[in-house]
Amino acid sequence: MGYPPSEWPEPIVPVQSLSNSGITEIPSKYIKPPIDRPSLDSFHNSETDLYIPVIDISPLINGSDRTDEAMHAISHACKEWGFFQVVNHGVAPDLVQKLRAAWREFFYSPMEAKKAYANDPKTYEGYGSRVGVDKEAILDWGDYFFLYLLPESTKNLNKWPELPPNLREITEEYGEKVMKLSKMLIKAISTSLGLDENYMLRAFGGDNIAGTLRVNYYPKCPQPELTLGLSPHSDPGFITVLLADEHVKGCQVKKGDLWVDIKPKTGAFIVLTNAIYKSVEHRVLANAETERFSFAFFCNPKGDMAIGSAPELVSPLSKPLYEPITFNEYRLYVRNKGPLGKSQVESLKAA
Ligand code: OGA
Ligand code: NI
Repeated sequence: MGYPPSEWPEPIVPVQSLSNSGITEIPSKYIKPPIDRPSLDSFHNSETDLYIPVIDISPLINGSDRTDEAMHAISHACKEWGFFQVVNHGVAPDLVQKLRAAWREFFYSPMEAKKAYANDPKTYEGYGSRVGVDKEAILDWGDYFFLYLLPESTKNLNKWPELPPNLREITEEYGEKVMKLSKMLIKAISTSLGLDENYMLRAFGGDNIAGTLRVNYYPKCPQPELTLGLSPHSDPGFITVLLADEHVKGCQVKKGDLWVDIKPKTGAFIVLTNAIYKSVEHRVLANAETERFSFAFFCNPKGDMAIGSAPELVSPLSKPLYEPITFNEYRLYVRNKGPLGKSQVESLKAA
């Protein structure tokens, strides 16, 4: 069998159909072993929400004299948490609302219409429900739509929903705006590491830096205590700009041994850093009362460039942790096995 295979190991059953069928018990394929199940008690404890960094990045946009302050906050959050929230990020609230509405309409459209875009494990582009081709894997309680946005040459509009009519245009505009934001954040991260502001952008492909989008739909789940909306993982790219549901929390990040709820501030994006600084492990809970939507924009290196440690940051006391690898190779790990905490990145550690 060639890798990756062009077929899923078994027929795909959208979680939305399971949820709508009115079952009161989830199929065994979705039941996690006890150790991986969430403890939902902590879910209602919002004390830790207070500490999750929220950074006003308007100084970076306006080039004001508070740039250093924002930069320092980013650097601190990357070291301490591997993620932060940004406000005053310059992406118009109206565009964000249109994006949410368009994709909600898509996920609410008839199953036949959605299945016309069914994805396969070769590109993942389109409508899908699983990540990984391991037949024994326990599945997650979520559906998604995955697409390639940027650079232009990777975009294949035929794979994008045709309806609702404004979905393509809005998604393209959103992609452009969030890529602009991502590049600004990457510059700030580069500077905060003591590198030239364009260093990281160049190292990750310059104008060929890639943007993909995963729209997540987590339907209501009758037994959220037994499963997860999305298993623990760290995203493989550079940074992820996550637009979480405006009403329903569910995404958690790992801090030490604890899973901490992210309660997004209204209008904020959650920025998860990956290869640089901490690559934060995160997961999503399932929910009995409410469905949930989210939009993860992944900013990825150009696929065929070797990514390794910046020589400027390496010294006899700070040796490279990983052998160089291209993003295309690295992504295969994730696509083969599905979400597996941080074991994939750990397995690549240099001897
Ligand atoms: C992802 C992801 C979080 C969420 O799509 O990689 O981590 O809140 N999503 O849906
Ligand atoms: Ni993720």
